[in-house]
Amino acid sequence: MNTNTTISAVLEARDLRRNYAVSRGWMKGTATVQALAGVSFSVQAGRTLAVVGESGCGKSTLARLLTMIESPTAGQLLIDGKDVAHADAALRQSLRKQIQIVFQNPYGSLNPRQTVGNALMEPLLVNGLGDAKEREAQARAMLRQVGLREEHFGRYPHMFSGGQRQRIAIARALMLKPRVLVLDEPVSALDVSIRAQVLNLLDDLQQALGVAYIFISHDLGVVRHVADDVMVMYLGRCVEQGARDAVFDNPQHPYTKALLSATPTVDPAMRRERIILKGELPSPIDRPSGCPFRTRCPLAFDRCTKEEPGLQGQDGQRVACWAVTAPPLSIAA
Ligand SMILES: Nc1ncnc2c1ncn2[C@@H]1O[C@H](COP(=O)(O)OP(=O)(O)OP(=O)(O)O)[C@@H](O)[C@H]1O
Ligand code: SF4
Ligand SMILES: [Mg+2]
Repeated sequence: MNTNTTISAVLEARDLRRNYAVSRGWMKGTATVQALAGVSFSVQAGRTLAVVGESGCGKSTLARLLTMIESPTAGQLLIDGKDVAHADAALRQSLRKQIQIVFQNPYGSLNPRQTVGNALMEPLLVNGLGDAKEREAQARAMLRQVGLREEHFGRYPHMFSGGQRQRIAIARALMLKPRVLVLDEPVSALDVSIRAQVLNLLDDLQQALGVAYIFISHDLGVVRHVADDVMVMYLGRCVEQGARDAVFDNPQHPYTKALLSATPTVDPAMRRERIILKGELPSPIDRPSGCPFRTRCPLAFDRCTKEEPGLQGQDGQRVACWAVTAPPLSIAA
């Protein structure tokens, strides 16, 4: 990923954090879940940043912050260089339009009692854009752009297949001409045979519209296909980020290596020895001291218990690991 913010980033996150207060049980008070524990990145127009990491690492929490569905506990979110936290109501409304989201489940994200046409026109109506005729024309044009037909305009979501429904959800998210689309596992719920079609559609739309994607996925095969840049998350933190080929061909962090080793590949030259991680993902209520990965890391040493490593590196590939950035003699040798 290009972290040089002078190449105007359309979206920038600076040390974003999100905590949730949860009950520990009757008479036991509350605890704090650190769902997102400090994440920074930027993305440029027309680029795709993939966010990967196992269940519970904070991907959807990040999606909710980026789309302003929730506010961060700390950190900064900049959309087109404008700090969301310091925006007045009018600017917030205009910034919110710039970032839209597509969820994993197209069944849940569409109102079953609303026709496709109305679902597409609604964002325009809510934002007071155009008159009825213009809104209908734009919705019909968007239907065509996502590969659906004009006669689908008056139909209801249940009359469509899963792949078509996801096309409708993408069309609705694009109606306000956002600069960024956050895609939270957009093809995970679809049949394998349909996935490639929806991924190709997303690619075509990006080329045509110059929209940036934050593509959240646990499927590294899909990520390799779609990403320009990759951010690997673990327990609410980014542990490695960089250009797709750098991360896939030369992963540095032990967690990235383990994730990639578990990904099937048809190319024998790319096959890696499978690294089985011991233990479970720790609870974000009770984060380990020092490096969040240390309880499962095959390389952990003294310093890892005491100090949390920050992201360091060059040429756009950065990694948060003492064994990489400041190895002890026993590892360096
Ligand atoms: N509203 C909430 N209240 C309390 N804890 C929450 C809340 N939302 C998320 N969490 C916790 O924060 C952590 C991160 O959750 P999140 O949904 O962001 O993970 P994820 O990476 O999207 O996982 P998945 O791959 O399963 O979708 C989890 O431990 C989750 O239980
Ligand atoms: S900092 Fe230490 S525990 Fe964390 S990934 Fe690197 S070697 Fe492993
Ligand atoms: Mg999620």
